[in-house]
Amino acid sequence: MLCLATLSCSPKAESADPFTGAKWIGTSERVLYADYLPQFILSADIDIAPGSARASVLLGGNDPRLMNADLNILGVENGPDESYVRVELDREKKSVNVYRTGYTKADVPEKVFQSLAVADSLLADGSAKLTVQVTYNQLRISLGDVILGRVNVGPLGGSGDYIAYPQLADVGWLVDEGQTARVSNLEVREIRGPNALLYHIDGMTAAASGVKVLCEPSYGGMPVLRNSFKIKKKDIESATLYATARGIYEVSLNGEKVGADFLAPGLSQYNKHHYYQCYDVTKQLLKGKNEFLVSLAEGWWSGELTYGSGNRNYFGDQLAFLASLHVKYSDGSTQSVVTDPASWRVTTDGPVVYASLFQGQVTDAQRSLADAKWKPAEEMVLDGHVSDETFGQTAPRTDEYENWQLVPQEDPSPRVFTTLTAESVSEVRPGVYVYDMGQNFAGIPSITLRNLKAGQQVRFRYAEVLYPDLPEYQGNEGMLMLENIRGAMAQDLYIASREPVQCFEPHFTQHGYRYLEITGVDQAPALDDVKGLVISSVQGFTAHYESSNPLVNRLWDNIRWSMLGNFISIPTDCPQRNERMGWSGDLSVFSRTATYLSDVDAFLTRHTQAIRDVQMPDGRMPDVAPLGGAFGGLLWGSAGITVPYECYRQYGDTAILALNYEAMDRYMDLIAEKYIEKETGLMTQGNRGFGGLGDWLGPQNGQLDNSAIWDAYYIFDLQIMQEAATALGRNNDATAYSQKLADRKKLFVDRYFDKATGRFTASGYRPTKPGQIIHIQSSYVLPLAFGIIEDEALRRKVVNNLVETILRPGATDSGIVCPPYSLMTGFITTAWISKALSENGRSDMAYRLLQQTSYPSWLYPVTQGATTIWERLDSYTKERGFGGNNSMNSFNHYSFGAVGQWLMSRSLGIDRDPAMPGFKHFILRPEADPTGQMTWAKGWYDTPYGRIESGWKRSGGKVEYEFTIPEGCSATLRLPGMPEQELTAGRHLF
Ligand code: BGC
Repeated sequence: MLCLATLSCSPKAESADPFTGAKWIGTSERVLYADYLPQFILSADIDIAPGSARASVLLGGNDPRLMNADLNILGVENGPDESYVRVELDREKKSVNVYRTGYTKADVPEKVFQSLAVADSLLADGSAKLTVQVTYNQLRISLGDVILGRVNVGPLGGSGDYIAYPQLADVGWLVDEGQTARVSNLEVREIRGPNALLYHIDGMTAAASGVKVLCEPSYGGMPVLRNSFKIKKKDIESATLYATARGIYEVSLNGEKVGADFLAPGLSQYNKHHYYQCYDVTKQLLKGKNEFLVSLAEGWWSGELTYGSGNRNYFGDQLAFLASLHVKYSDGSTQSVVTDPASWRVTTDGPVVYASLFQGQVTDAQRSLADAKWKPAEEMVLDGHVSDETFGQTAPRTDEYENWQLVPQEDPSPRVFTTLTAESVSEVRPGVYVYDMGQNFAGIPSITLRNLKAGQQVRFRYAEVLYPDLPEYQGNEGMLMLENIRGAMAQDLYIASREPVQCFEPHFTQHGYRYLEITGVDQAPALDDVKGLVISSVQGFTAHYESSNPLVNRLWDNIRWSMLGNFISIPTDCPQRNERMGWSGDLSVFSRTATYLSDVDAFLTRHTQAIRDVQMPDGRMPDVAPLGGAFGGLLWGSAGITVPYECYRQYGDTAILALNYEAMDRYMDLIAEKYIEKETGLMTQGNRGFGGLGDWLGPQNGQLDNSAIWDAYYIFDLQIMQEAATALGRNNDATAYSQKLADRKKLFVDRYFDKATGRFTASGYRPTKPGQIIHIQSSYVLPLAFGIIEDEALRRKVVNNLVETILRPGATDSGIVCPPYSLMTGFITTAWISKALSENGRSDMAYRLLQQTSYPSWLYPVTQGATTIWERLDSYTKERGFGGNNSMNSFNHYSFGAVGQWLMSRSLGIDRDPAMPGFKHFILRPEADPTGQMTWAKGWYDTPYGRIESGWKRSGGKVEYEFTIPEGCSATLRLPGMPEQELTAGRHLF
């Protein structure tokens, strides 16, 4: 097994607990950056004087996005105090009235946007506590303890799926002329328990003359810790720093960054397994005085996380750092420096004012650590910082940290994979400079800024695509399309110092983008000054594919880029919008491709730990890991089974099977017991609360019989279990699984296929369709790809049916007619369609599908300039633009890139030997494009033993093949028209 040396030292080498004596330290001082806070609770006491009726609180005031028409797509540009949301208590009308002002051109300050009725009993005396809870565009309004209702004030939509308005921004109060009222105890609190207080104004009286006050509540900054310590003037043999954080951290020692990691300690289910890193700092340590500086930021611990309303401060609301430096002198003596409140100091006055993975980073370069106020660090405990409410399905309560473990990280941390330089810039509006990085990617910018004035504010925004010139987007053409980033702000702000040359490189956020917009500069920075650091846990590729078809080559590159952008600490669905979650269904289909593309054994081993950490007590596997939660059902949950299996088969790693076997087995028991209907044997998961996700985003999903897709995957899972049990020597289990597999296959064939025609017949899972023929691509793919139909004659018929559905035009559920050779499949069946065809002698069809360029196909996005794999095959079309899909429309989602494994295993034919996991012995079975459209292909796969090369070329009427087999390996060669033969190391030509 290949093992990348990614950590600078082995965390296991040292004592079991390298943190003995170290304490979690930080500060209880908070930071509030109101322009970037989309979820909060605002409350105030309202006393209305006798004879008066009304008073209001204000929030979301002076949002900079609404004060500059270049920063919104709503076309608004407000002056000071012209934009806010107002929530008014009106005793006379017995209502709470919401007004929205300056958010859209149509807003009228005096016109009630929406009213909620208030019962008489709540208005008995003149005073009331008005509470407004804001979650991504939604206001939930209460009077006292009574919830009056919800009002969606978001001009673009009503949840985290849309750009979030309001942010907290400026808050205040308003009393109309002629009214007398007192608004006091205005408070802003965290949305999630323990609902920490973020802001408070004691009392203010409004006079009869009328008053409107908006105040900016922001304060503080991200914590920076400091420790000066002395090292003896003796020779140092080794110095190792062990560190981790609640939040993310970056350590510098004597002014130099320690290690090359970004976003450490990465995301894990922190209340179960919290990873620490280990760095060799022998060369950085000085004899005599040394200094650590440690920056902390929210990362995944605090702040915004995932798309759901209320998902904030998922693990806790305060950051902390834990570290221990172990120094070994040459004379055998040792010294250690640990985090403890007594010797460390902390400040919140540093240049990083606020940093959030979703929202962006705000840096004020005028603030300097040299001028900061340093205070003693505090010991940080979890009590009081972790919610005690049950929230979502797995957000941990304080008591759920009881069994947490601090464990050494053994997979690669995110690091800079490569650096991009902007390729072009256009001034799309006066002073609005949009840079094209030439590539959609995940990471951060690194910008050199010259000749700024002290205090000058430079704003950076990030997008995957620009608005095209279509009537629907009129007025915004060429500007960044940010709707699909949804509730994430994805905006950095840099406030310049007086230095002539300054560098902005925000290490505490992450963006998914190709286009970078810079505003607030007097002139556009030069292209060379605009770099992008591509950050990924992938630190090298182990596979390469190229062919005579340049569009397919770009597709291959796009698959690699989407893997880079989505393998960042965990395997995510997408790296840009307010989601970035470890969605299991996506990984399950992509994992075979991933194991070819890079050595991801350690990365996926860590991920299977996260899956197990959030596996439910009844054995149910999560749809998302870490964090957990499940509504998807078997296709998503199966990642707990397929991911260990793909690593086992690709790398020969039985350890990952052993680690996961029990969890896998429990899951299979659960399915058999709960989700298979006893009477019919049908997989009825959707009816039984297991979840109903099917062939996600398939254009013909409305027609599909989901039960068959679930059942086919269940059969795949059974086959995996049988292989896993065999590999682990669990012979009884292997026999039992093998029996179940045979039974289930038989049941599947009996139930779903008409024997005479091989047509798919619906099961009756959808009561409207029993017995109905469902003759679409997705019906046939999985049974063929998973070898479910053993009867040769029937299989031939089914193959012909699949081919027939490819050869005819197909209509999408929304009525779009697609030409022959269109890909009418979703996330799940797209991953397997090429295999289903090739396994059954129809690689001609697989190559036709592969090289089709009209929508829907793999190459349509490529023809539209895609540089990554899109979430939808029609994320953008020239006819329909973004198709109204921007509330779920990522341009960097690897799922449809699962065809990568077919390019390796069938087009190049570098395939695993089912009898021998790992690549010591493998199968070579390249298939030249029978249609002749692709005339050559070549590539390689790096195994632990060396590089396997494979290529074919059509020349004249025949195909020439060339292979290299590394030393110590052998392969079984299968070429058309030739008897099978064994090849040993060396170069082979045929
Ligand atoms: C994600 C998908 C995921 C799906 C499941 C989406 O929001 O981006 O890739 O698998 O949800 O519901």
